[in-house]
Amino acid sequence: MIQIVNLHKMFGEHKVLTGINLTIPEGKTCVILGGSGSGKTVLMKHMIGLLKPDEGQVIVDGEDLVPLGDARLEQIRRKFGMVFQAAALFDSMTVYENVAFPLREHRKELSEEQIRALVRSKLELMSLPPSVEAKFPADLSGGMRKRVGLARAVVMEPKIVLYDEPTTGLDPITTDSVDEMILAAQARLKVTSVVISHDIASAFNVGDYIAFLSKGLIIEFGPPEQLRSSEHPIVKNFLQTWFGKN
Ligand SMILES: Nc1ncnc2c1ncn2[C@@H]1O[C@H](COP(=O)(O)OP(=O)(O)OP(=O)(O)O)[C@@H](O)[C@H]1O
Ligand SMILES: [Mg+2]
Repeated sequence: MIQIVNLHKMFGEHKVLTGINLTIPEGKTCVILGGSGSGKTVLMKHMIGLLKPDEGQVIVDGEDLVPLGDARLEQIRRKFGMVFQAAALFDSMTVYENVAFPLREHRKELSEEQIRALVRSKLELMSLPPSVEAKFPADLSGGMRKRVGLARAVVMEPKIVLYDEPTTGLDPITTDSVDEMILAAQARLKVTSVVISHDIASAFNVGDYIAFLSKGLIIEFGPPEQLRSSEHPIVKNFLQTWFGKN
């Protein structure tokens, strides 16, 4: 679904990505794991054409994004749902209006009844009861806000959902519930999911594949078991900080 070929990106003298090769298979969940500042968000921005690489290709659903202009990129971005680090809900809108927002922007042909059905089905998918519809983001817990963000990300029924650090700053129980929602969206909507994370527990929980990003390169890629038995010293060291304690 997404194929990254020999991707290079530098900012000034700072080489952030130095030859990324990564194939994300359709219908699976791929976690991009790496330390803070390793370039995870920069890599994700290339996947939706928000950044242009210095070299390399970003092939989404068979089309290389790199040479495309803004109009075509705008169309391609509709294949994506995005969940950002901060839930990024509109504080002045109710939960219902937040989730309905992408439909009102992009699916003007829909009736209010159709919008309501779509919003309800996505809230239900995220285990949110109809009673939350009239609430404002400020009245919800952090975990519930995340779920609303997920419902909004999938309301357009995208082919690909990108999550940037969906569990950062959440307590372990809330983290587990957000992981469950990622898995639920995956199972019900059959999307391709890309999860950016530095949370090892979550990565092993949700990932069909894990790509380990370090110093501008993917140094390990495979199912979780493969990462766990990696002989790469950087991967081993990173995992030890977690498996050492558990
Ligand atoms: N627009 C930019 N201009 C200059 N440098 C940038 C820009 N965007 C990112 N960088 C640098 O690129 C490096 C990678 O940043 P990135 O945000 O991708 O890290 P990350 O892996 O997402 O980290 P975190 O886990 O903390 O979110 C950092 O050193 C950052 O300062
Ligand atoms: Mg980041």
